[in-house]
This record gives sequence, structure tokens and C-alpha cells, in this order.
Amino acid sequence: MVHIIMYALGVVLSQAVAHGAAAATNSTCSLPSKYSWTSTGPLATPKTGWTSLKDFTNVVYKGQHLVYATTHDTGSKWGSMAFGLFGNWSDMAVSTQTAMAAGAVAPTLFFFAPKSIWVLAHQWGATAFSYHTSTDPADPDSWSAPKALFLGKISDSGTGCIDQTVIGDDADMYLFFAGDNGHIYRASMPIDQFPGDFGSKSAVILTDTHNNLFEAVQVYTVPGQGHLMIVEAIGSNGRYFRSFTAPRLNGTWTPQAATEAAPFAGKANSGASWTNDISHGDLVRANPDQTMTVDPCNLQLLYQGRAPGSDSNYGLLPYRPGLLTLNV
Ligand SMILES: *[C@@H]1O[C@H](CO)[C@@H](O)[C@H](O)[C@H]1NC(C)=O
Ligand SMILES: *[C@@H]1O[C@H](CO)[C@@H](O)[C@H](O)[C@H]1NC(C)=O
Ligand SMILES: *[C@@H]1O[C@H](CO)[C@@H](O)[C@H](O)[C@H]1NC(C)=O
Repeated sequence: MVHIIMYALGVVLSQAVAHGAAAATNSTCSLPSKYSWTSTGPLATPKTGWTSLKDFTNVVYKGQHLVYATTHDTGSKWGSMAFGLFGNWSDMAVSTQTAMAAGAVAPTLFFFAPKSIWVLAHQWGATAFSYHTSTDPADPDSWSAPKALFLGKISDSGTGCIDQTVIGDDADMYLFFAGDNGHIYRASMPIDQFPGDFGSKSAVILTDTHNNLFEAVQVYTVPGQGHLMIVEAIGSNGRYFRSFTAPRLNGTWTPQAATEAAPFAGKANSGASWTNDISHGDLVRANPDQTMTVDPCNLQLLYQGRAPGSDSNYGLLPYRPGLLTLNV
């Protein structure tokens, strides 16, 4: 009971802090079985010195969009950045781009409501995954020194643990990640121990080919409809997302829109003409908290795309942000 009250208090605080971010409401829309989207063109160009903006994570904060991303310079260096708060997606083009001193590659941003603290998780720190905390998420310099989020290793992967996401229900926090190896992994911990590390143990919860379960896993709560997972796959026509659903975060994941011909989002259904790739990104969430809640009546995906034929060294691929809006 105490736990439930504290959680409820956390949610109230979350809404107070979020100032005008839409609160989660009961959904009246079912997730479609077949997805069809409309796309914007590229929403922003990397500032001088960067070749790409990638791996977007985003929340609505103080009624505006707050986006963190991975960067790659013109040499061989990865980093991370934040966009200044902006109101409309069309304003992203003129939003400031600020490099983060504390590197946070492939970031995951959310508000941990039970303790009223913002969390930015990332890969390639001192441990497999790390996190920073802040009370002012719009300030890229406000993040704490990194702490360990996950200490495990995976054996059959060239990249090692990659592309974490974090999500919670009332009782537990879950870490999901990929390995560029056809597996999706999961670890968990009691919610009252978070923020903290998930230890070193994980379970393989999905297995397929290297291409079919590649990377960029994201997991969401759909109010009243369980959970939605999307995973980036390598297709014959570019990168695309496959989706899975599960009734509980610790449950079994069932393929939903999981083929290149009828994907969650890909060349087949994106409506985008500027990119063949619908790659690493994040759905626009209904509120910024750890439940990673999305509104199926207003589904939008902030993704990375690149001009067809812009092939080069992987780090130099000219990825840009784009936004898909579900056709209803
Ligand atoms: C949401 O749905 C639940 C269960 O159907 C109901 O108890 C609750 O009152 C609803 N909340 C709102 C804000 O409509
Ligand atoms: C967003 O764009 C709409 C339509 O152009 C405009 O009415 C609205 O004021 C804009 N909102 C912000 C926050 O800039
Ligand atoms: C799975 O999660 C549910 C909450 O959604 C919880 O009630 C249940 O105990 C969990 N099962 C296991 C085996 O951890």
C-alpha cells in the first residue's frame, strides 16, 4: 500500500514537472494489425562538424519536444547531443544542437516518477550500459557522472550489448537490449531499487536471424492493451522495424507487424520518399515517465533516415531525423 501511494505521488509529481505534457489517458484506439504512415522529410541537418544525428530518444517536457541523439563527427568519433526545446516538429530544423560533455551514445531518456528524477541511459560507458541523472533534463550539462546500469556480457556478438531501453510497471523495472546477433535480451529489478544497476544477468527473450532481430529495441506501454516492442531489422530494401506485443513486460512476445512487406514501419509503409531506411528512433510518448506510455490514437515515430545511395563507412552515413505519423 505504501508503495502504491508513493507511486501515485510520483505520477502526480511527474505531471507537475512535465508541465503540460499530455498525461496518459484511456486509449480508445487499438493498435492496428496493418500499419500505414505519413512521413515528414528530414527535420534537421547536423551542425558543422557532425555528419549524422542518430538514435533519437524523445519526450514532451514543459509542453515542448525534448530530443537527445547520437552524433558522429567527420572523422571516427561518436558522441551525443541534445536539441533545445522546440514546439512543433517543423521547428527542429532551427533548434540549437548542443554536444554533451558526458557522452551518452544511443540514449534513452525518461522521468523516473517514483523518485522524481530524470534518467538518461546509454551504451559504451565503463560498463555495458550506464546512466546519468538530472533534475533539469533540458540542460545537456546537468547530467550526473555516469553510474553502472548493466554489468553483463554476451558471448555470441561482435558488438556486445547494444541499444538498451528501460521500462517499468508498478512492481519492476526492466532493461531490454540487443546484440546485433538475432537475440533480444531482458533483465529486471524491483522498482524500489531503481535507479541502480540491473546486475550482470539477462535472459534471451527473442531469437531469430541476425537480420531479423538486429538492434534498436524499444518497448512501450499501451494503456489497456499491454506492451508493444519494436526491433530494427535489416531488409532487402533498407532498415525497417518489426513489432511484437506482450501482455506483461515479463511475458511472451508475439510477432505483430513483423515482415518487411507489412512491417511496423519500413519502406513498404512509411510514405517517406527521402529515405529507404526507417531506422533507430523512439515513438513520441504520451508522458515522459518510466512506463514509456504511448497513445495508439496518436502514434508517431521519430526515426533516423538517410538519402538512398548515400553509402559509405558506417559511422559517416548521413542519418537525419524524420517523423512518421500513423494514418488512421
Ligand atoms: C480508464 O479506464 C478504467 C477502466 O476501464 C476506468 O476505471 C477509469 O475510470 C478510466 N479513466 C478515465 C480517465 O477515463
Ligand atoms: C505549431 O504550428 C501550428 C500550425 O502551424 C501553430 O498554430 C502553433 O502555434 C505552433 N505551435 C508552436 C508551439 O509553435
Ligand atoms: C511478471 O510481472 C507481473 C506484473 O506484470 C507480476 O505480477 C509477476 O509476478 C511477474 N512474474 C514473474 C515470474 O516475475
